[in-house]
Amino acid sequence: MILESLQLLFFKNYDEANLRLSPRINCFIGDNGSGKTNLLDAIHYLSLTKSAFTSVDAQSIKQGEEFFVVKGRFQPADEAAEAAGPEAIQVSLRAGQKKVVARNKQPYDRIADHIGRYPAVLISPYDTDLIRQGSEERRKYFDSLISQLDHAYLELLISYNHVLRQRNSLLKLAAERQGGYDRDYLLVLDEQLVPLGLQLVAARQQFLLDFEPLFQRHYQLLADSREEVLLTYKSQLPETDFAKLLRVQERKDLALQRTTAGPHKDDFVFLMDGLPVKSYGSQGQQKSYVIALKLAQFEILAARKQQKPLLLLDDIFDRLDEKRIVRLLQLVADHTFGQIFLTDTHLDRTDLALSSITEQINRFRVEAGTVRAV
Ligand SMILES: Nc1ncnc2c1ncn2[C@@H]1O[C@H](COP(=O)(O)OP(=O)(O)OP(=O)(O)O)[C@@H](O)[C@H]1O
Ligand SMILES: [Mg+2]
Repeated sequence: MILESLQLLFFKNYDEANLRLSPRINCFIGDNGSGKTNLLDAIHYLSLTKSAFTSVDAQSIKQGEEFFVVKGRFQPADEAAEAAGPEAIQVSLRAGQKKVVARNKQPYDRIADHIGRYPAVLISPYDTDLIRQGSEERRKYFDSLISQLDHAYLELLISYNHVLRQRNSLLKLAAERQGGYDRDYLLVLDEQLVPLGLQLVAARQQFLLDFEPLFQRHYQLLADSREEVLLTYKSQLPETDFAKLLRVQERKDLALQRTTAGPHKDDFVFLMDGLPVKSYGSQGQQKSYVIALKLAQFEILAARKQQKPLLLLDDIFDRLDEKRIVRLLQLVADHTFGQIFLTDTHLDRTDLALSSITEQINRFRVEAGTVRAV
C-alpha cells in the first residue's frame, strides 16, 4: 500500500499543504519547530484516525482557525482493491463537533472501523516514554497494536471499556448518594465485565506468544550485545477468578469510586537481565529496546496484514548512534520496509546516510508551516 499524496488544511502549524509522495522514501527537512513532525502526525491520523502525540483532537486545529482537514490518497495493496483504484481517506474536525473520517467521501458510521486498513509504525523520540511512564502508556501501545492486527480485539476493547465506564459511573453515584445505589445493577454489569475481561487477557497473552520472539530477534540484531531481554504480560486475572476478585474489591471500589481490578490495570513488563529496563538499562539500551519493539511491530503487522505498514521515522539521525542507523538502513536497503517518511534538520546528513540507496527519494523542505519539494 502506498500513500500517493497528502493534503492539509489548517492542521497544526499549516494553513495549507499539498504533497506528492514517493512510493519509497520521503524526507522532510527543516529547522526545529518548522512542522516536520506535524507532517508525520497527519499521516498518523490517516492510518489510526488520531494523533500520535495528543489525545485532544482539537489541539490539531491551527490556532485561530475553526477546523482542520487531512486528506490522503492511498493505492491499496491487494489486487482486488487495486483494480478499484486509489482510495481517498479524509479526517476532519470542526471545533466543538465530532471528528469525521471518510473513505471515498463516505463517512464511517464508526471511526474504529477504519483502524487496521492502512497500518503505520512510528519511531519517535518519545518512544522511551513506553519504558519511563506508567502502565497506562504501555497498555495503550499494545492495545493499539493488537487492534491494528485484529479488529475483533478492538471491538472487545470497546465493549469492555463501555461496561467499565458504566460501572465506574455507578460507583460514583453510590458515593454521591452515600451508599443508596442499585447493587443488582452492579452485579449485572459485573456479569458482563467478567467474560470481556477474560477474553482481553487471553488475547494479550496470545499476542505476546507471537510477538516476543520477533522482539527478541530485533533486539539482538540491533544491540548485538549479551544482555537478555524479556517482555512479559502481568495480569492479576490468570491466577485469580475475575468475578471473585470484583467481589473482594467491591468495598474498595465503592470507596475509591472506580474499578480497581481488571485488565485495565494490567501491565506489560520490560526486563533486561531479569531487572526492569527502566532502572537497569542504559540510555542506549533503552533506545534499542523500544526500537526493537517498533521493528517487531512492523514485522508482525506486515505478516498479518500482508502489506507493509507505512514507516514514520521521526528525528532518526539525531538520536541514534551510527551502529543503529547502519542497521536500520540495511533494513531499508534490503526492502524490509515499504514506504518510508523521515524527518531531519540537516539535508546533508540525510543525503549522506541515504547515499547508498538508489531508489526514488523525494525531499521536502519544511519552513514555518510551509512545505515544498526540493
Ligand atoms: N494547533 C496548532 N496551531 C498552531 N501551531 C501549532 C499547533 N500545534 C502545534 N503547532 C506548532 O507547530 C510547530 C512545529 O511542530 P513540529 O513538532 O512539527 O516541529 P518539528 O519541525 O518537528 O521540530 P523539531 O525539529 O524540533 O522536532 C511547533 O512550533 C508548534 O507550536
Ligand atoms: Mg519534530
